[in-house]
Amino acid sequence: QYHGDADVREVLFTEDAIVQRVRELGEQITEDYRDAAYEPTPHGDPALLVVSVLRGAAIYMSDLVRAIDLPLEMDYMAVSSYGTGSKSSGVVRIIKDLTSNVEGRHVLIAEDILDSGLTLKYLLRVLESRNPASIQVATLLRKRNPQQAEIECKYIGFECPDEFIVGYGLDFAERYRNLPYIGVLKPEVYQGR
Ligand code: PRP
Ligand code: MN
Ligand code: MG
Repeated sequence: QYHGDADVREVLFTEDAIVQRVRELGEQITEDYRDAAYEPTPHGDPALLVVSVLRGAAIYMSDLVRAIDLPLEMDYMAVSSYGTGSKSSGVVRIIKDLTSNVEGRHVLIAEDILDSGLTLKYLLRVLESRNPASIQVATLLRKRNPQQAEIECKYIGFECPDEFIVGYGLDFAERYRNLPYIGVLKPEVYQGR
């Protein structure tokens, strides 16, 4: 049963806090890419390519790009983080690839959360092999997970505790992505399944 707000034990980041922080990230990115964004590219595309990882990052990405005051292209990738079996399998594969060319472009990966780091580690490896001019990560959340892979994130919105987090794109069993805030799910919600 889905009870919306009642399934959330604690709000970690309110809608207002998220709006504010995403705006700050956008301003910082705008400053950092002020010159790079206008560099010529092999096919005449905008130099700045913002890549989002479906599905969790879609909401964050849509807010982030509206806080960036530069020409940019939005593109999407879908990966399955985990093969059949456990979270630690390390199996990641591409379900949907980018539409755009990466070569010679400044790639900015917009991810909702860095947890084990397996998704970003894989993505960075795949995209780096396509010869971008540069590649950086803008993650909204970084979970304090002791087992996290070492990933270089230039932009981090918030650090968050190693708990079951939902909202603002983050799901449990595909639900709760549409909550406008980020919170911790009550254990009884996921323990019953
Ligand atoms: C979640 C989240 C990140 C990833 C982070 O996606 O949106 O993409 O896990 O975890 P990691 O650092 O341990 O790899 P998920 O695979 O649940 O797919 P979703 O975005 O469709 O929810
Ligand atoms: Mn995801
Ligand atoms: Mg998920």
